[in-house]
Amino acid sequence: MASNSLTITDNSTGKVYGIPITNGAIRAMDLRHIRTGPDDFGLLSYDPAFMNTASTTSRITEIDGDRGILRYRGYPIEELAERSSYLEVAYLLLHGELPTLGQMDEWVYQITHHTWIHENIKKFMDGFHYDAHPMGMLVSTVGALSTFYPEARQGDAETRRLQIVRLIAKMPTLAAFAFRHSLGMPYAYPDNGLSYVGNFLNMLFKTTEVKYQPNATIERALEVLFILHADHEQNCSTNAVRSVGSSRVDPYSAVAGGVAALYGPLHGGANEEVLRMLRGIGAQGRIPEFIKQVKEGKAKLMGFGHRVYKNYDPRARIIKRMADEVFEVTQPSPLLPVAQELERIALEDEYFVSRKLYPNVDFYSGLIYQAIGFPVEMFPVLFAIARTSGWLSQWQELLADPEQKIARPRQIYLGQGMRQYVEMGKREEDAPEIG
Ligand code: CMC
Repeated sequence: MASNSLTITDNSTGKVYGIPITNGAIRAMDLRHIRTGPDDFGLLSYDPAFMNTASTTSRITEIDGDRGILRYRGYPIEELAERSSYLEVAYLLLHGELPTLGQMDEWVYQITHHTWIHENIKKFMDGFHYDAHPMGMLVSTVGALSTFYPEARQGDAETRRLQIVRLIAKMPTLAAFAFRHSLGMPYAYPDNGLSYVGNFLNMLFKTTEVKYQPNATIERALEVLFILHADHEQNCSTNAVRSVGSSRVDPYSAVAGGVAALYGPLHGGANEEVLRMLRGIGAQGRIPEFIKQVKEGKAKLMGFGHRVYKNYDPRARIIKRMADEVFEVTQPSPLLPVAQELERIALEDEYFVSRKLYPNVDFYSGLIYQAIGFPVEMFPVLFAIARTSGWLSQWQELLADPEQKIARPRQIYLGQGMRQYVEMGKREEDAPEIG
């Protein structure tokens, strides 16, 4: 038996099986050879919520949760946040390499010239109620884009590339239109003279000025936040994009699936919860009481803890530093001292230390978004814009991977065995209470 393998003995039959280990994993399909009874199809692995299942190999994003490491295509997130731009990072994620000067110029040109959306999309926007959640509007309008580009269903590389450009270019436009709809403001059209992020700020906040000029500190802060959120390997929404995309549907529909997954409070909504928590605590003096409640299981320290990071989330470190710069040009957040003191106390407390609970990406990002002028409903929308490049990189990788078929998990059926249909009217005697 090879040393990098697993030996499994089936105690019901006495049979011994050798299962190879490759890249630190066994293949679930190898378990199929293990026959646990005469009629079955072989042994299944049961893993609700994919707690310990790799659904793919990937060359895009590497996370080392114990050491607090995040890298895109091998480049540390700290270096990218310091020196790169969102569009450069998007190029890197999609192509695997950083662009040359010429490649970057061409890439920026293409994205800049696809930011407009069809006027009919605006009509869809107008149809939403004034208080429609912008994430709900984004899910619907991204999905609707597929009807404007029917060629997106074709699988050739050039067609795919064009849809990728369109999606990255149009997401900020859809998001900004959704935002302005909620305020009852006329839509502001893209300004090609501005950067990707600068133009997004223009479409959000332009009012009566002839030419909108974004504040450089805020523009850079949002750029960095977009870089930090661009990809995070097989998270819930990325898994959704891959799963939907595995049916070979067009990328607008697959990305709509990703936006829908991100809409949920367990995924894209945590920074909103952090703001609520900080508002609830209200003052530094009330932190010990709050910590006591957390330890008693009556509250959760939102923005702390992570399924993968058992160390300081590297994105949180960068965001924390940036918060000071942003607050110099906006109103300083009255909640910042509460957040800082809460973090200090938690990091020294045995409860959090022993459970390896550290601040995650959401602990400070909400404060920054709020200072820039975003309502909480827009927080997951910002996440969705940034994550689009990651989703599309993962979608491309999926389509190029010959091992990836349509995603179709198995189940363990625990329901009723075969039973006979009984006519209505004859059921009452045996009918169980339902509801
Ligand atoms: N506050 C208090 N206790 C916590 C927290 C927290 N934020 N997070 C985990 N714990 C405790 C948990 O009660 C458990 O304690 P015990 O062992 O006594 O039962 C222990 O720590 C392990 O937690 P877990 O629930 O098994 O960890 P998980 O990997 O299932 O959950 C998490 C990870 C992120 C859902 C969780 O830490 C959490 O709910 N955090 C707050 C929400 C939050 O900030 N979410 C944003 C995540 S980062 C966004 C992204 O990367 O996309």
